[in-house]
Amino acid sequence: MEITVDSGDISAAEEDAVVVNLFEGVNSPGGATGAVDRILGGVITNLIDVGETKGKLGEMTLIHTLGRMPTGRVLVVGLGPAETFDTDAVRSISAQAARYLRARNVRTAATIAHGSGIGGLDPHASGRAIVEGTLLGLYRFDKYKSSGERPPELDSLSIVEFDTSRVGELRTGVSEGKILAESVKLCRDLVNEPANHMTPSDLAEAALDVAKSSDMALEVLDERQMEELGMGALLGVAAGSKLSPRLIAITYTGDPANPDNSLGLLGKGITFDSGGISLKPAIRMGEMKGDMAGAASVISAMKAIGALGPKLNVTGLAAATENMPGGAAQRPGDVVKAMNGKTIEIDNTDAEGRLVLADAACYAVSLGLKRIVDVATLTGAMEVALGKVATGAFGNDRSLMDAVLSAGNETGEKIWEMPTFDEYREQYESDVADLKNVGGRPAGSITGAMFIGEFVGEAAWVHLDIAGTVRSSKVRGWTTKGATGVPVRTLVQLAQSLAAN
Ligand code: BES
Ligand code: MN
Ligand code: ZN
Repeated sequence: MEITVDSGDISAAEEDAVVVNLFEGVNSPGGATGAVDRILGGVITNLIDVGETKGKLGEMTLIHTLGRMPTGRVLVVGLGPAETFDTDAVRSISAQAARYLRARNVRTAATIAHGSGIGGLDPHASGRAIVEGTLLGLYRFDKYKSSGERPPELDSLSIVEFDTSRVGELRTGVSEGKILAESVKLCRDLVNEPANHMTPSDLAEAALDVAKSSDMALEVLDERQMEELGMGALLGVAAGSKLSPRLIAITYTGDPANPDNSLGLLGKGITFDSGGISLKPAIRMGEMKGDMAGAASVISAMKAIGALGPKLNVTGLAAATENMPGGAAQRPGDVVKAMNGKTIEIDNTDAEGRLVLADAACYAVSLGLKRIVDVATLTGAMEVALGKVATGAFGNDRSLMDAVLSAGNETGEKIWEMPTFDEYREQYESDVADLKNVGGRPAGSITGAMFIGEFVGEAAWVHLDIAGTVRSSKVRGWTTKGATGVPVRTLVQLAQSLAAN
């Protein structure tokens, strides 16, 4: 799909449809919406008068112009109350409008820059949010459907701005939005792929494409190299699978003069989580093809980081393996040793994410990374705690945590901080080893997080548990069915904000 910024008057646009907007409670529309209303003989004012159009967030009113304008149709989109309006509202209504038009066979559309007038957003933020919302809202994963089954696409969107002094900033926002949306779409694709098409080596291939796209370094460790490094925790998980594991490292060097200005992004990359010998029940086990979403989000964020070029050094690490119950699989009761020498009693082979991340974290520390953010579909308990609404954040450093939380705020990817009190630690102490890999039912996502925290050395660290937010069963705003692509935009925003400070 093509998205452009054009200067001019929206009422002259010749696309199949034109999108204008309305705040809730406005009785006589102004600006571009007002101009269109006058050309159409006051039909929008009339729709408001009779109570059909109210301007509620996401409300869609379609008007056929019947020859009064060059375009055939005008879509009036509700922005909700002006007081609660923000960039995420722009993202959501842009997604909804794009889907609404696509479903009505519209192939080309023009829109005003939502929020950049009386909405009070700067044109940069508005342009970026429109593009993110449109591209993410139209996302579909239909590559395995025969072509006859695919409905038509919306081919182009022109963002029309009357004020020429705003066009430059709008264009910057639009190109940034494209980079971010393409990265999120990559993440969704990787997560939606079935496990027979997304193995650890397939994930390494995807990382290679990303590294090539922006001239970043790629290193892929195989089983033998992991053995030499002593990554017994990761290798223990891999033991039950026929597929060999991969530890994938993409390195972006944006501040070569300051090697300590670094950020490590770590992703859980379980390409299929059967539970291992502690086998999962059959119900919804297929969703475990998405247990590599943390790794996918890291690889995808690296793509955007490479393209945007922030002034800091970022290493994206993905710990990729299957968790299968093959003949060589590790057993409950086994003891393994992580790269930093800590021994772990395997109490439940289904708590595998923390094991692969333990070695990935040790590796990040050995690379000298000073700040570490890991992303994982770690615990079912996370969805119990926060539902599918928010990602849980856990950490050991106030300032990094604040940076992550505010990055989430900016992107509309909701994140909520969870505690890591020392008192929880005894839950995962072992009688036979230094630690055990489960801490019982109470506070399951906290003990899972804190377990990973045992392997980050002196680094500032935040863990994001995306088990609840990784996929959606319904279409809502910029979220579509299946993989959400969370928290790609937050990771990129974090890199940008750390670079700016
Ligand atoms: N990948 C799962 C967590 C998960 C569950 C993610 C549902 C997304 C949706 C993880 O590896 C797992 O199995 N966790 C166990 C941990 C337990 C054995 C301590 C869980 O949550 O039950
Ligand atoms: Mn598991
Ligand atoms: Zn898992």
